Amino acid sequence: MKNTDSTGHVKGQSIYIDDIPVKKGTLYAAILGSPVGHGKIQRLDISRAEAIDGVEKIFAYKDIPGENQIGGIVEDEPLFAEKELHFYGQPIALVVATSEPIARKALKEIVLETNELEAITDPREACEKKEFLIPPRTFKIGNIKEAWKSCEYIFEGRVDSGAQEHLYIETQGSYSYPMENGSVKIHSSTQGPTAVQKTAAKVLGFPMHKVEVDVTRLGGGFGGKEDQASAYACMSAVAAHLLQKPVKLVLHRLDDIKMTGKRHPYSSDFKIGLSKDLKILAYQAKLYQNGGAATDLSPAIMERTLFHSTNCYFVPNTEVTVFSTKTNLPPNTAFRGFGAPQGAFVIEAAISKAANELNVPKNLIQCKNFLKEKDEFQYGQIAENVNISKCFDSLDKKYQIEKLEKEVLEFNKNNSGYKKGFSIMPVCFGISFTKTPMNQARALVHIYQDGSVGISTGAIEMGQGVNTKMAQVAAKVFSINISRIKLESTNTTRVANTSPTAASSGADLNGNATRIACEALLKRLTQTAAQMLNTKPENISINDEAVICNGKRTEIKWEKLVETAFLDRVCLTENGHYATPLIHFDKAKEKGHPFAYHVYGVAATTITLDCLRGTYEVDKVLIIHDFGNSINPVIDQGQIEGALVQGIGWMTLEEVVFDKKGKLLSNSLSTYKVPDIYAAPKVIECTPLETEGPELAVLKSKAVGEPPFLYGIGVFFAIQNAIKEFNKEYKPDYDAPLTPEKVLLRLYDK
Ligand code: MTE
Ligand code: HPA
Ligand code: MOS
Repeated sequence: MKNTDSTGHVKGQSIYIDDIPVKKGTLYAAILGSPVGHGKIQRLDISRAEAIDGVEKIFAYKDIPGENQIGGIVEDEPLFAEKELHFYGQPIALVVATSEPIARKALKEIVLETNELEAITDPREACEKKEFLIPPRTFKIGNIKEAWKSCEYIFEGRVDSGAQEHLYIETQGSYSYPMENGSVKIHSSTQGPTAVQKTAAKVLGFPMHKVEVDVTRLGGGFGGKEDQASAYACMSAVAAHLLQKPVKLVLHRLDDIKMTGKRHPYSSDFKIGLSKDLKILAYQAKLYQNGGAATDLSPAIMERTLFHSTNCYFVPNTEVTVFSTKTNLPPNTAFRGFGAPQGAFVIEAAISKAANELNVPKNLIQCKNFLKEKDEFQYGQIAENVNISKCFDSLDKKYQIEKLEKEVLEFNKNNSGYKKGFSIMPVCFGISFTKTPMNQARALVHIYQDGSVGISTGAIEMGQGVNTKMAQVAAKVFSINISRIKLESTNTTRVANTSPTAASSGADLNGNATRIACEALLKRLTQTAAQMLNTKPENISINDEAVICNGKRTEIKWEKLVETAFLDRVCLTENGHYATPLIHFDKAKEKGHPFAYHVYGVAATTITLDCLRGTYEVDKVLIIHDFGNSINPVIDQGQIEGALVQGIGWMTLEEVVFDKKGKLLSNSLSTYKVPDIYAAPKVIECTPLETEGPELAVLKSKAVGEPPFLYGIGVFFAIQNAIKEFNKEYKPDYDAPLTPEKVLLRLYDK
């Protein structure tokens, strides 16, 4: 079944923030951002700007009725800068005018004088200067000190991975207006409506019930709107409340790129030890996370980096530490994979280094160290239903890895100007928010008296198809046609205290809540049917819109059943609540069982490198992926393709560059390259692994949003292998993204 939104998208009928018909008297806002990466405000004079015809008011921190604070985990982020400026683009003031052009014109008339201080942009430098957002954390298992003694081979190295711009098609935005009794309603392009509600309430000095947040859908989030939408929602809400007029704030693309945080760059040092037969006995790493100027979600991202620091391998002795450093960049934030890609890249680099030095194929070391059933993760969880070797074996069976390697070898023998490279990238990704309390959701299901169904959940539709999946869950439980079901907007007055739609868990958490609500309703309808047929409820079921009694189809159809139940005064509304069972984590010990289950998969990648230009094409990515029992193969395949290409972009083309003062140089799409159709693999084949699927996944259909992002890492190593084929003297290094420019330098480096 295709995504229920697709027709609306193609016809341009789907509603995003900028499509909401505005109310009469709506005002438009624009943000004054810091012109320095680090400094102090010396003078701020808004008088000339405020005098411009059409400018309603200019707000700064002093105007905030509640707290000037939007930090979610640590309270270290003002909505508007007070005296100090900590990143280039940091919001200082908000101009509100009768039109956007007037607001922008007024920005230029604001007099802002600053004195510039020295900026830090590098996480290693920040670490030396003890600039940390939070204390470091270490995950360990076994005895690393002892383990080195029994290693036959030990290798060390450095790994760097870059930032990544989310580039959701819809930029950050919100539309707020005053409501009765001094309350405010906010339409926000957010993954976390409750985060917006809570933060706006704090900034406004309101109880949460005076803030209503409504979200129809997002034009993409990718983590960039997990909590960073809150700032822009608060700004329009404050202005709307203080002026008692509707206020719209939609960021210009250039402002969005400049002001918002990105994927965390990491710089890391590793040490890996292997036995003579290539078992990884010890792995030690120090990872420096570039957090930016405020904490944002860095602690949670740090945590997921630690959880995924050994990817899909069992290493009996590990010790991995992450330092979350404070720098003068926009606060970095959630981005598909949430720190896992950064962590997994380091161990893949370590294995690659070992393979190069020992002159053995990397996939030999990979295979020898795959997790097995009942192995213990470094965080204490015992691995169950481990499918990594199964994925690898299926891939080998389907494509014959040796044959794929041979093709590359043959090509390289016969070509001097072009070289091919091959790699295997295995993935293991834990499903659940790493913070246990976040693993809960609710769904409000109404059956209307005509038999149609309306569903509200805490899930946000951002293109990933969660609404379609919710409708499928309800259609399946009720056994009715999907056309009877409508997904309502995500609204904090209908479904409260929601977790953001993130951690790939949106479908599992909200789908299970929907299932629970529908099952309760079905039970009531079954009782009604039993009464109608003068039998016991155990004898009743509903199949394909009809009541079945003792296995026989009756004349009673869904509509008749619902109508009868209504006239009988049966409650046709239910609120389902779901909390993932069994999971827990003890932060004091850094041990527990944080994940409901893990997702596995393996990708085989072949690339062709143009050795004259340093450019490359991805020929094919062949994947075996563990979907469990997918409820929607069309959507899930789309998630694989999208995540893969996004991962390839991170590893190859997308280079976020700041200057030493913290000013973003790659500040537009002419200087920041994102993968286009030519950068996408010529062939993507993704075959589902044949498995049952875990009980804790919604209808046994595994979460799919983030794990396939990691397949993109395979392209890095495939390119590197092609470089080695051309330049025998090249000593592989691990500095992503591997842009054509960097490739060219390495092709001719002697
Ligand atoms: N797919 C689309 N089209 N747009 C998005 O913004 N976000 C990704 C992924 N797939 C995203 C997407 C991220 S970061 C996550 S965490 C999951 O979707 C969230 O949705 P889910 O939990 O319903 O899978
Ligand atoms: N993943 C994504 N987002 C999150 C998480 C997580 O594990 N924890 C808090 N926010
Ligand atoms: Mo996804 S990074 O968990 O929003």
